[in-house]
Amino acid sequence: MLIADNLGFRYAGTPVLADVTMRAESASMLAVTGPNGSGKSTLLHLLAGVAQPTAGRVRRAPGLRVALLPQRTSDIDALPLTVVECVRIGRFTPGRLLRRLTRRDHAAVTGIMELLEIAPLARRRLHELSGGQRQRTLLAQALLQEADAYLLDEPTTALDTRTRRHVHDLLTYKVRAGAAVVIASHDDEEVALADRTLHLTAG
Ligand SMILES: Nc1ncnc2c1ncn2[C@@H]1O[C@H](COP(=O)(O)OP(=O)(O)O)[C@@H](O)[C@H]1O
Ligand SMILES: [Mg+2]
Repeated sequence: MLIADNLGFRYAGTPVLADVTMRAESASMLAVTGPNGSGKSTLLHLLAGVAQPTAGRVRRAPGLRVALLPQRTSDIDALPLTVVECVRIGRFTPGRLLRRLTRRDHAAVTGIMELLEIAPLARRRLHELSGGQRQRTLLAQALLQEADAYLLDEPTTALDTRTRRHVHDLLTYKVRAGAAVVIASHDDEEVALADRTLHLTAG
């Protein structure tokens, strides 16, 4: 579904990733582990296509729908959106940007906001949220997408145990329904959910 061949990446000449070969398969969860700075976030950006590799290549199945939850979200604060508006974006798809959301879409928005306990924040602006609240909002938007591949960068670091479990149940459900999930994580319990693990080493 999503294949990386001999990927390399450098920031201004400093090597970050070298010779990474991996595949994300449908109906399967892949955990990406490794110490801080080992390149987990960079790898997810390359897989999503928001950054380009300096060596090797990423192959995506034609028409593949990719949902990315980035780790660093400060850029998003600049958008004049409320929480509910931000979550709803997950239901718009390319080519259908101007369609009206259906009753089913609105129910899905409400459901995920309740699950992630951000329903009371619906009318707040993004820049008025704490880091954890912002992470929940963006996680809701990512999980609401009807994607083939979900690339999630440490999605549950700011969540309490109960909410984390809800998210894990939802991910398990998506995998059963055929999705490829790639999850960068430091959490052993989360890593244990995955079918395979890709471990990056610093340097
Ligand atoms: N925008 C950037 N400019 C320069 N170096 C960066 C940038 N972003 C990340 N790096 C460096 O790339 C390396 C990998 O970072 P990252 O992919 O965020 O690792 P991880 O997610 O595993 O913590 C780190 O050494 C980090 O300092
Ligand atoms: Mg990271």
